[in-house]
Amino acid sequence: MKKAIIFGVTGQDGSHLLDLLLSKGYEVIGVARRCSVDTSERIKNRLECPHFNLVHGDITDASSVMNILRNNEDVDEIYNLAAQSHVGVSFKQPGLTWDITGKGCFNILQSIVDLGMFGSRFYQASSSEMFGDSYDIDKDGEKVQNENTKFLPQSPYAIAKCAAHYAVRLFREAYGLHASAGILFNHEGERRGETFVTRKITKWIGDWHKTGYDKNFPKLRLGNLEAFRDWGYAGDYVRAMWLMLQQEQPDDYVICTGKTHTIREFLDCAFGHIGIEDWEEHVVIDPEFYRPAEVDYLRGDCSKAKEKLEWEPECNLEDLVKIMVEHDVNANI
Ligand code: NAP
Ligand code: GDD
Repeated sequence: MKKAIIFGVTGQDGSHLLDLLLSKGYEVIGVARRCSVDTSERIKNRLECPHFNLVHGDITDASSVMNILRNNEDVDEIYNLAAQSHVGVSFKQPGLTWDITGKGCFNILQSIVDLGMFGSRFYQASSSEMFGDSYDIDKDGEKVQNENTKFLPQSPYAIAKCAAHYAVRLFREAYGLHASAGILFNHEGERRGETFVTRKITKWIGDWHKTGYDKNFPKLRLGNLEAFRDWGYAGDYVRAMWLMLQQEQPDDYVICTGKTHTIREFLDCAFGHIGIEDWEEHVVIDPEFYRPAEVDYLRGDCSKAKEKLEWEPECNLEDLVKIMVEHDVNANI
């Protein structure tokens, strides 16, 4: 039986990856922070599973990471999905973001080396946010980002992710670790955190629906609606993480849909799903949700993943919106 460790198991991706690995017959150790409230909502139906063990640990604490790895030196695959993952929050808490999202990755990589766990494979959750303002032009004259596009990070989060990404490459080359990084573009779904823009929109629609579309329901407050994002479905993307660690050679891969849409277009689609075309009267633009620097345009090219991993996204924007709106409209009815 293969064994895996997931740092960040209580998050959106961690919970999908847990489902995937258990379905493939893995034994899984999930690492979660100890909090004053229960954070295991997304994995609650897995807690009693005999092949799943939840342990407490914090990736900012090197000794905590070391102890978890030492207790599991026979582990086949280690996935680092733990992060302070909110870009807007990273401007307000840059130090914490650095400690978790940047240094946390070093803590894991260094422990792997110090314990001599060279047989374990490592996955790092890198991000399209690392591209920031940078892009290339494809053969159709459109902006695009792939594995060769330079990074021009626009947030403390992106800077921390770049540092972790370079650390993966360094540890691969310096120590021969089987360490891969997935440069994942935005991916969403019914388990997405409620402060990310897609889920904020679909959750608001669900809550409004439950009031019987009350005219006095507080409006949806959003920031910049003009940014473009390449949105996929989280369930599709964790398959790509797993595939990366099944390759003989470690490498970095862009994972995306290749399609891009503005927040406005997401609103069109989400409100359209409940039969509303003119959503503007329900939305207030609030400067609170603008960022000091913005990433205006993300659209990936995942040709390398298609060719080498034989990975393709299965869900398009319409499917994604349907999953999310229907989930939020029907939640707790
Ligand atoms: P998420 O829902 O915010 O999950 C983050 C996870 O990290 C949570 O389980 C969180 O635990 C855990 N965590 C935070 N600080 C920690 C610490 N100090 N020690 C241990 N665990 C800690 O994020 P996600 O959407 O699943 O994303 C997974 C990873 O992919 C993240 O690294 C993110 O930056 C990256 N990424 C995400 C996307 C995307 O579009 N979703 C795209 C590219 C890259 P709590 O439950 O206690 O908060
Ligand atoms: N969160 C949020 N809330 N974003 C808003 C809002 C709002 O009220 N209004 C407009 N936006 C805009 C943001 O300014 C940004 O341009 C876009 O919506 C997407 O914001 P998020 O959903 O917060 O995602 P993100 O693109 O900043 O970051 C996500 O994707 C990255 C990959 O590119 C996160 O999942 C990161 O962890 C991930 O690395």
